[in-house]
Amino acid sequence: MKKILTVVGARPQFVKCAAVSRVLRQHFTEILVHTGQHYDDAMSALFFRQLDIPEADVNLGIGGGPHGDMTGKMLGALERTMLEHRPDWVMVYGDTNSTLAGALAAAKLDIPVAHVEAGLRSFNRKMPEEINRVVTDHLAALLLCPTRTAVELLRQEGVTRGVHEVGDVMLDSVLHHAARARATIDRGALFAQLGFAPAGGRYAFATLHRAENTDDPARLEGILRGLAACPVPVLLPLHPRTRKILEARAELRALLEGRVWIVEPIGYLELLRVVGDAALVLTDSGGLQKEALFLGVRCVTLRDETEWTETLAGGANVLVGADTLAITEASARALELGPPPEGARSAFGDGDAAGKIVTALRSAGG
Ligand code: UD1
Repeated sequence: MKKILTVVGARPQFVKCAAVSRVLRQHFTEILVHTGQHYDDAMSALFFRQLDIPEADVNLGIGGGPHGDMTGKMLGALERTMLEHRPDWVMVYGDTNSTLAGALAAAKLDIPVAHVEAGLRSFNRKMPEEINRVVTDHLAALLLCPTRTAVELLRQEGVTRGVHEVGDVMLDSVLHHAARARATIDRGALFAQLGFAPAGGRYAFATLHRAENTDDPARLEGILRGLAACPVPVLLPLHPRTRKILEARAELRALLEGRVWIVEPIGYLELLRVVGDAALVLTDSGGLQKEALFLGVRCVTLRDETEWTETLAGGANVLVGADTLAITEASARALELGPPPEGARSAFGDGDAAGKIVTALRSAGG
């Protein structure tokens, strides 16, 4: 069997690689490398346990620190790992520093790179993720695009060889796990454990972690005021970066009291259950915009642009940036309208992206 070395490091990549590995391992020998970018139990090990991801063959233990330093350390360590294992392909996911380091290390060793979630663009070069995805796409031999838009955006950059539209692996994952989440997660017990008791039963689910929001005090305050003014109680599992910032800002925490419940990051199955039952999602995450859509919940996106433009169809997702009033008005309107229209989901394929990715790899000589 041919050998594929997969590089993952951050929470959303664990979800994506779980979906692909299930199929991949029927045809390839997979060497799973965890860079260590996310290292808290709630951000990493919990996902491996819940999603039955085989333990990583190698954990590089490189997390935290400035982006250049993190990426540089990963590059050296990944090069050594690739030289040791001599894979036929290197597979990377999405747009994280781990992805960039994996693609660059492989390209320099002349190992072909397969990029899952190729062709995504926000056209905002201030986002570290935009730099990572543009470079990775231009290094990849196999570009596995979630949507037709992604294929078209690559074409506009002159990238047409090795491009395949395969659908979105996160849809595979939601379809695979949603029923299990419903059957195994007791929402009442979970809320009791989190200390969250939304009066009237309706609630919003929020996340906030993008550097452009958390590291800009004006944007952070605008968003938090918007969340506090949401017509229903808000559950906010907080990314460690945002938590660290809020710990130093007592006046911002006070603003949220009694309206926004800050809790630790939750597991994937818990997330599917809690989002599925939410009246609304507010987020600056890329993945959660899609998960909301797949689970039939309207989304208000706390960013000025999105890579996932298909989610905007029919108003299922709206972009509001960091403006308090825009957030409040969009939330009220989304709550009034109820679940989004069916249909927007079809842009993301049929839930068999993993199968199509493996087929593309095999026909590319894998
Ligand atoms: C990364 C990805 C982003 C993705 C996100 C998912 C990049 C450039 N960005 O952003 O695309 O949406 O993951 O969550 O790679 N930290 C902890 N414990 C952890 C993880 C992080 O304390 O388990 C701290 C880090 O030390 C760091 C901060 O949180 O100070 C940010 O983590 P980092 O890995 O740099 O990027 P993310 O913001 O998580």
